[in-house]
Amino acid sequence: MIGLMLLLTMSARAQRQAQTDPSEVAALNAIFWRWGLGASTAWNISGEPCSGAAVDDTTDIDNDPNFNPAIKCVCSYNASTVCHITSLKVYALDVVGQIPAELQNLTYLTNLYGLFSP
Ligand SMILES: *[C@@H]1O[C@H](CO)[C@@H](O)[C@H](O)[C@H]1NC(C)=O
Ligand SMILES: *[C@@H]1O[C@H](CO)[C@@H](O)[C@H](O)[C@H]1NC(C)=O
Ligand SMILES: *[C@@H]1O[C@H](CO)[C@@H](O)[C@H](O)[C@H]1NC(C)=O
Repeated sequence: MIGLMLLLTMSARAQRQAQTDPSEVAALNAIFWRWGLGASTAWNISGEPCSGAAVDDTTDIDNDPNFNPAIKCVCSYNASTVCHITSLKVYALDVVGQIPAELQNLTYLTNLYGLFSP
């Protein structure tokens, strides 16, 4: 019982300390700047973007209109010290047209929502 609690405490701490890959933070900021999108109140683009709704298991950004633009991260890299951005959602935000070159720097991105809608 004590061992389990210790394990849970340690994994919670590891998640808190995990930080977004700095090159992905730079790329994300550059992408949003190009698209003229301000920072969302739902997550902190100037600080640690892989926090809050971006890393919890309950927020389904794909289907939640309150999180737009939005990202999802996976924070289990480098012994749970590094987060990589795996999803980017920009649904119906009128950003279609220019695909920023920085998008290629989000090397762990596997999901793009809304980018190619008409
Ligand atoms: C994570 O680990 C890999 C492989 O050891 C390393 O190349 C990379 O720089 C690390 N990433 C960060 C953000 O520390
Ligand atoms: C994206 O990656 C390229 C090549 O690795 C680098 O020169 C450029 O500075 C990066 N841009 C951002 C915004 O991270
Ligand atoms: C965003 O994060 C930075 C650095 O951690 C912090 O200084 C700033 O106050 C945060 N802004 C908001 C709105 O949370």
